Amino acid sequence: MIAVPLVDLKATFHPIKREVMRAFEEIFDNMQLFQGPNLRALEEEFTSYCRATQGLTCSNGTDALTLALRAFDFPPGFEAIIPSHTFFATVESVVHAGGVPVMVDIDPKTYCMDPERIPPALTDKTKVIVPVHIYGHPADMDAIHRVAGARGLTVIEDAAQAHGTKYKGQPAGSLADASSFSFYFTKNLGAFGEAGFCTAKSEAVFERMQLLRHHGHASKFEHVLAGFNLRMDEIQAAVLRAKLPSLDANNARRREIAQQYNDAFADLDIVTPHTADYALPNFHCYVMQTGGRDDLVRHLAECKVGTGIHYKTPSHLQPAVRTFPHRAMPMPVTESVCSRCITLPCYPEMSETQTAHVIDSVKSFYG
Ligand SMILES: Cc1ncc(COP(=O)(O)O)c(C=O)c1O
Repeated sequence: MIAVPLVDLKATFHPIKREVMRAFEEIFDNMQLFQGPNLRALEEEFTSYCRATQGLTCSNGTDALTLALRAFDFPPGFEAIIPSHTFFATVESVVHAGGVPVMVDIDPKTYCMDPERIPPALTDKTKVIVPVHIYGHPADMDAIHRVAGARGLTVIEDAAQAHGTKYKGQPAGSLADASSFSFYFTKNLGAFGEAGFCTAKSEAVFERMQLLRHHGHASKFEHVLAGFNLRMDEIQAAVLRAKLPSLDANNARRREIAQQYNDAFADLDIVTPHTADYALPNFHCYVMQTGGRDDLVRHLAECKVGTGIHYKTPSHLQPAVRTFPHRAMPMPVTESVCSRCITLPCYPEMSETQTAHVIDSVKSFYG
């Protein structure tokens, strides 16, 4: 029986193997492992790809969001509005930046933060709203900016899953005051290790990001801030540069596969992913909802189809939240989605035969 893993990392290496091996040889010959030409070029290339004002590489997506939040210098105990339905790193970043995560419910169609749920969560301590473009579908940024603008709040995109995602034609990374990306190796643009990226609109915020990333170094022997070591290395930068030119084509292929699934499952008892009319999603994850989700997971495993659950336990119900100050608004949508969601394989290297096998396997569960 043909197998379809949830992700296939080996398949992502073949198309770039020669270019990457050549770049590695050059890096190791010169032993320029940090702050080298690949890093500088990637900063220019990905900033321009996002149509962002300024961008900088860093160690991973969790650090990228923490760095972005810290760069605004919010007062200790500031409140950040975030969705509960996200990878837990969004919550952790707020905590590590000295803030209090205030979690709100999501829109039942896009699974992104519901802008209407934000106003009841605001207090005098609220400083920032952090929408997450979950699964690579953009949050409703105009509606979020309206709420933020009325209260003078900062907006930071958690674009960890949103490389190449667009909102009204404008790429993620350029839709707010700042943004953060993850280049974790399973992402649509993934390194061969840990890596991340931040963007910022304001020059002052960007300068603070740069300082915080690298020990508060203003010049060689001068530390003007107690910063961190959150640098990316040349090896990851070379891999990401080799992959960036095919990102748009790869995202388009993901959208094709997602459409094939949507069409094939239209008559089944499945809620397939919805694309808002403002959105160009990148289908980082193809997530659908169904009753009997756990039985479907078991059935697909027997058919050798890998699945994921993004996410099984919402952030506000994670045991860790008991260990730090936080608030959670009512979460009927998040809790329902978490009990019913299942992620199917959806990546550009999948063959037609593999896609057909996923479709047949899902259909066979429903008889
Ligand atoms: C929404 C979201 N935010 C933040 C992160 C953290 O990124 P990283 O794993 O690179 O630290 C992730 C990673 O999956 C994510 O999905």
